[in-house]
Amino acid sequence: MDATTRANRNAWEAASTKRVREYPELLARAAAGTSLTALERDLLRPVLATGPDVVHWQSGHGADDIALLSAGARSVIGVDYSSVAAGAAQRRADELGVNCRYVVAALPGAPLADGCADLVYTGKGALIWMPDLDTWAADIVRLLRPSGHLFLYEEHPAAPLWSWDSDEPRIRPDRSYFAPSHVNDSFPANGAVQWQRTLASIVTSVIGAGLRLLHLAEHPAPFWRMGGVEAAAWNGRLPNAFSLLARRP
Ligand SMILES: C[S@@+](CC[C@H](N)C(=O)[O-])C[C@H]1O[C@@H](n2cnc3c(N)ncnc32)[C@H](O)[C@@H]1O
Repeated sequence: MDATTRANRNAWEAASTKRVREYPELLARAAAGTSLTALERDLLRPVLATGPDVVHWQSGHGADDIALLSAGARSVIGVDYSSVAAGAAQRRADELGVNCRYVVAALPGAPLADGCADLVYTGKGALIWMPDLDTWAADIVRLLRPSGHLFLYEEHPAAPLWSWDSDEPRIRPDRSYFAPSHVNDSFPANGAVQWQRTLASIVTSVIGAGLRLLHLAEHPAPFWRMGGVEAAAWNGRLPNAFSLLARRP
């Protein structure tokens, strides 16, 4: 593991203790099985209707895994390098008696068998921690069975440029759309290095790995809002998230 990945992992281990403190609240929310957004439900409906085995790539505390099962998934394996986050997710899955298993591992390089998944589900603050997207896409393709799907619902690559001013959106003077990285100053912060890429380079990596692009859309609403922040950049004029669905031939 390189020095940046190790430092990012330490930042996530520390940040994930928040999820442990919130365990009772998150347990109740997960048990309701409703955490997927309407957008995710619509896009994933045909895939989940087939009862897929899911790998949740960078599963964190597994917020959406019970919802994936409720919507039709047969099983979920979550992979994350935070033992704190994966431990909380496993505890919750065991408590609810659901078919979710959590593996602590650095990605890419998932310690899972080739072709073990019908769906790789990822996003909501995941892609920005992957330093090399070609390696990321290749490892996902390795996990997918033929006709398996990759689903990504993620922060728009332009979103780090928007200031969180409440009167009007501004472009942060310390950020560039074409910069390779910046230091995260919201969550998990602690000096974590967040990788940047353009939307074009994300799509190119997905297609270059041999996946067929089925859906790509940009969305004005962010997938996550920092508590207490009401940014004008989130009022519908700017891209804040994107969704992508691709299939292995
Ligand atoms: C913002 S969270 C998203 C988690 C999940 N998608 C969710 O909605 O709860 C990002 C997660 O990526 C994990 N992560 C970051 N880099 C990773 C890596 N190289 N390998 C494995 N996990 C990683 C972190 O530990 C963290 O749990």
